Amino acid sequence: MPSALITGTSSGFGRAVAQRLHDLGWDVLGTVLSPEEAEGLPWATALVDVTDDSAVEGLRDHVGGSLDALVNNAGIAMAGPWEEMTSAELRRILDVNVVGAMAVTRACLPALRAARGVVVNLSSVSGQAGDPLMGPYNASKFALEGASEALRAELKPHGVRVHLVEPGPFRTPISRAIQTAGGRASSGAYAEAWDGVDHWLSWHEESSADPSACVDAIVGAVLRDDAPFRIPVGDGISDVVRRHAAKLADTATRADTWLATL
Ligand SMILES: NC(=O)c1ccc[n+]([C@@H]2O[C@H](COP(=O)([O-])OP(=O)(O)OC[C@H]3O[C@@H](n4cnc5c(N)ncnc54)[C@H](OP(=O)(O)O)[C@@H]3O)[C@@H](O)[C@H]2O)c1
Repeated sequence: MPSALITGTSSGFGRAVAQRLHDLGWDVLGTVLSPEEAEGLPWATALVDVTDDSAVEGLRDHVGGSLDALVNNAGIAMAGPWEEMTSAELRRILDVNVVGAMAVTRACLPALRAARGVVVNLSSVSGQAGDPLMGPYNASKFALEGASEALRAELKPHGVRVHLVEPGPFRTPISRAIQTAGGRASSGAYAEAWDGVDHWLSWHEESSADPSACVDAIVGAVLRDDAPFRIPVGDGISDVVRRHAAKLADTATRADTWLATL
């Protein structure tokens, strides 16, 4: 029976992916943050905050000598302007979304190499394109993208696949749980941008896409040997792909300009 470790299985994508792999007969270990969250889950659970080094190291014993798939799904969202966010807030999101994912991967790598397994990292369209007041989240997902490129190259000789799933907005509890950096500081200089964020969050919570397409993409990355490295996924995929395409076109234009100066 193939085995998978999925971080953050109390809700959202992580819970649905754990359920899907469990239904397919996989031996699933899902992390949760409290015993209450584990109640009723049909897969094995481990209490792991990905920012807790000793809990993360304990995963080595949980996964044992062989692991077929790791899904680094646990993550938080945070919004706030550069001018107002605190260093502690910035460190917090980088700790969960970047250091946490890298630490969990480090703990699982001996077992993943033994199984010639797969690592799926949950990035975002925010790992490709920045938006006002999303700097903390953009910073974390851009960092995860770069680290995943390095990991992919490191693990190629070991037969371990690495993938980045890059979702656009999907209706999960993340929009309700979003943390605000800078405490919406009193200067009001960013009031208009905050209005935009609030409007977007309401839309995200009520009207963004059903998560099933993203769950399909994550499970597909686990199961398919020929899955691409980057897997953008959105409602009808168009907005996510358009943002990628705009960025690539911009890079190509700049490359032409640089090359012309040589
Ligand atoms: N939904 C979207 O629109 C969207 C778009 C792009 C990318 N993503 C990414 O997809 C991933 C899953 O998000 P989601 O939308 O499914 O949101 P979610 O429902 O809020 O799920 C996040 C999961 O991570 C867990 N978690 C949070 N902090 C943790 C920590 N320090 N240690 C361990 N687990 C922790 C949460 O546990 P608790 O429930 O106990 O807090 C929860 O189980 C995230 O990496 C997110 O950035 C989501």
